[in-house]
Amino acid sequence: MDTSTMIKNGHHHNHHQVNTAKRRRRIRVWCDGCYDMVHYGHSNQLRQAKAMGDYLIVGVHTDSEISKHKGPPVFTQEERYKMVRAIKWVDEVVQGAPYVTTLETLDKYNCDFCVHGDDITLTVDGKDTYEEVKKSGRYRECKRTQGVSTTDLVGRMLLMTKAHHSNIVSITRFSLYELRSEYKAKLLLSAVLGHFRLSGVDLVCHGKTEIYPDKDGSDPYAEPRRKGILRTVDSGNSLTTDAIVQRIIKNRLLFEARNQKKEAKEIAVIQAMKRQEEEKTKERAQAVL
Ligand code: CTP
Repeated sequence: MDTSTMIKNGHHHNHHQVNTAKRRRRIRVWCDGCYDMVHYGHSNQLRQAKAMGDYLIVGVHTDSEISKHKGPPVFTQEERYKMVRAIKWVDEVVQGAPYVTTLETLDKYNCDFCVHGDDITLTVDGKDTYEEVKKSGRYRECKRTQGVSTTDLVGRMLLMTKAHHSNIVSITRFSLYELRSEYKAKLLLSAVLGHFRLSGVDLVCHGKTEIYPDKDGSDPYAEPRRKGILRTVDSGNSLTTDAIVQRIIKNRLLFEARNQKKEAKEIAVIQAMKRQEEEKTKERAQAVL
């Protein structure tokens, strides 16, 4: 049997191999980004990055860096740091990481390599922000999650009126699985109540926000109220989906411009890549002749 297969499967290794594996240095992985309106595309990226090593450090850009390169973020840097820290695959957050990823940054945090989704990130001057780390072989790619992006969420919110907010709640909502356990322990999603009988549940918690009746006018908490197990908890944070929509509406023009700029940049890069590909094919065809 091939020895590499044996080691991979974790069977039949001798003492020497076990000791080498134990002594193996922990692989430190670096990710960076805006992480604005944190969504499951971001947490999926961080999950894949963590799986490529042992310790995950995430650099989050400041508001001014993001404004300079792609337009204003919806969430403030303090909010974005907190949201990234809440994702269970993240071991450390570096606040105010530079927009362009350099070897100097990787070395400063003792990281082996960085991981980014398979999309294009450009500076304000149209340069690939990962050029340097790519050239030196300290760049790894993970799969970008299709169908969700900050740009798309902002776009959808721009189209929305107050009456349609419930749609936004469902697109921004996190899977509880992705949150750190200390957050999970404090949480019981009220939204699922309608679908569960409350057997085995000791306590049902709702934040300090108003409780809206269901579509048929009934109280969504009727059952826990009847059982006397409904409690109000203070999240210590007054942010609501409404407030997020308000931020976007207030800055509508800036966000529209940001979205258009990003789309135009991406189209330009895709066209340039296509042209390069076509030229290469032509060259290859000529070489054959
Ligand atoms: N990412 C991903 N899947 C998505 C969105 C983002 O894998 N659907 C990854 C990006 O590739 C990057 C990281 O998440 O490695 C952080 O992305 P961010 O800097 O927030 O920027 P964008 O990719 O520009 O985010 P968006 O398109 O959502 O504005």
